[in-house]
Amino acid sequence: MNRSRSIPPESSGNSWQGRPTPVLRPAGPAPAPDEGERPGRVLRGLLRKISDTPLILWHYVSNPRRIGAVAPSSGWLARAMARWVEIPPKGWVIELGAGTGAVTEALLARGVPPQQLVAIETVPRLVEVLRRRFPEVRLLQGDARKLTELIHGALGPNAPVAAVVSSLPLRAFTPEDRARVVQGIRALLPPGGRWIQFRYRLRHEPALHWEGFHLRQSVVVWRNIPPARVVLYERAGENAHARPRS
Ligand SMILES: C[S@@+](CC[C@H](N)C(=O)[O-])C[C@H]1O[C@@H](n2cnc3c(N)ncnc32)[C@H](O)[C@@H]1O
Repeated sequence: MNRSRSIPPESSGNSWQGRPTPVLRPAGPAPAPDEGERPGRVLRGLLRKISDTPLILWHYVSNPRRIGAVAPSSGWLARAMARWVEIPPKGWVIELGAGTGAVTEALLARGVPPQQLVAIETVPRLVEVLRRRFPEVRLLQGDARKLTELIHGALGPNAPVAAVVSSLPLRAFTPEDRARVVQGIRALLPPGGRWIQFRYRLRHEPALHWEGFHLRQSVVVWRNIPPARVVLYERAGENAHARPRS
């Protein structure tokens, strides 16, 4: 695993380049932590987790760099990501590394219309699971390192994209591949468009950021295996590509 400084640390979103950064509120009313945790829903979620975990584990053992997780994302993590998507979305919502669909489900529950959701996953077996589970969602089996080609091929070159929600294990990518993914996200989002990413490194690292993005907020979700940090980035304007280094 590459631990070079090209992995950008992230901050709590309270400052950027030493200036105060406006802290965004989650789009729409923030759900209470356990909103919607009705017994039936909890049971369904638990059964799904029990059935999905061996699938993720099997793929992890066969290719840990590709999956980057030992278990499907928890409902808490998935909802923490989904709550930062503006509703109604002003364009397509693109999910990267959809895995077994925990985040897909949270995005739909949040109110993203399935006809506006595109989920990208590279492992064919997981794509099959996703297709069965979410027949109305546009599923693309493909590689997020070729994001713009995938999206332009599926939706056309001018499709408006409102948000990108990513579970990709970016730290397991080479610096070149990470840069490729980030470049793809940047190319798709308009200024102000949101990129929501989770990672397992919990530490606040306030100085650096991805080129072309402002870091707006981040939060740790403890109720996940392992705990994770969700980070909200906002696409900068055209002339804001400078990459400050500390
Ligand atoms: C952390 S896991 C998925 C977590 C997901 N939220 C879940 O609950 O199952 C990351 C996912 O990204 C997928 N992935 C990894 N590299 C990818 C790539 N280059 N393009 C698309 N998907 C990729 C993996 O196959 C895996 O399903």
